[in-house]
Amino acid sequence: MTTLLAFSKFVGDFRILPTTSLVVSLAAFATPWLFGISYTGRWMPVALPLSLAWVAVVLFTLVRLRVCGLWLLFGMLPMFIRRPQPQELNSVRAVVQTVVDEVYGGLWAPSPLPVDDEGWELSWIALMRGTIVGVVLTSGEWVDDLWVLREARGCGVGKRLLAHGEAEIVARGHETLKLRVVQSNVAAIEFYRHHGWRIARVFPHEKFRINLLEMFKSLRKNET
Ligand SMILES: CC(C)(COP(=O)(O)OP(=O)(O)OC[C@H]1O[C@@H](n2cnc3c(N)ncnc32)[C@H](O)[C@@H]1OP(=O)(O)O)[C@@H](O)C(=O)NCCC(=O)NCCS
Repeated sequence: MTTLLAFSKFVGDFRILPTTSLVVSLAAFATPWLFGISYTGRWMPVALPLSLAWVAVVLFTLVRLRVCGLWLLFGMLPMFIRRPQPQELNSVRAVVQTVVDEVYGGLWAPSPLPVDDEGWELSWIALMRGTIVGVVLTSGEWVDDLWVLREARGCGVGKRLLAHGEAEIVARGHETLKLRVVQSNVAAIEFYRHHGWRIARVFPHEKFRINLLEMFKSLRKNET
């Protein structure tokens, strides 16, 4: 039972350590042989369900490859969150530009959409294998920006960056956190809802013909 729990924790953590999980799954697939159980003859009724179960685990991991795919190729994936250095600011901006164009390009203007040039030195960046894969920027009680490169999504980067941004806002003394998101960005809205954010209001953009959502997260118990 302990081994099973440890293994399921491995699989549960696969978004951070996907290759490890894949290797563990494949190794588990081979486990019956270690106990002398072959996939033929009289052991078939035992080995076949075992093998199918492990195939399901491997497939499940591979499905996650769709969202965390590039990183699966590289083995263990330690992720660091820190402030960008001055020489990294162009790279930070490039990450933001890439994701903004991917998510919102063509919605109110063709790509490349305008992206702020300044303020990124106050952001927090997520790095995997030395590459910037995500950015969060806050000011006052606001989460101003949260962008994760497509190939790094589903790996827990957004969650950790959001937690970092939220902690920064709370450290400034705010009890209610706020953000704005384009109404059509359903995936991001669901992501925020999943992390305890609620919709405060819907309102039209001041310049473009799109609607925005204002979302909030309150630390006061009776306002959740
Ligand atoms: C939204 C975004 C930041 C999420 O980042 P991510 O790295 O893909 O998300 P994570 O891997 O950290 O997800 C962590 C958790 O959120 C959940 N989650 C992620 N996307 C979700 C979605 N669309 N709906 C519901 N839950 C979601 C995951 O299931 C996971 O939950 P768990 O930890 O309880 O298992 C990222 O997809 C992104 O950058 N999107 C494009 C840019 C964008 O829209 N930014 C927001 C602009 S306001």
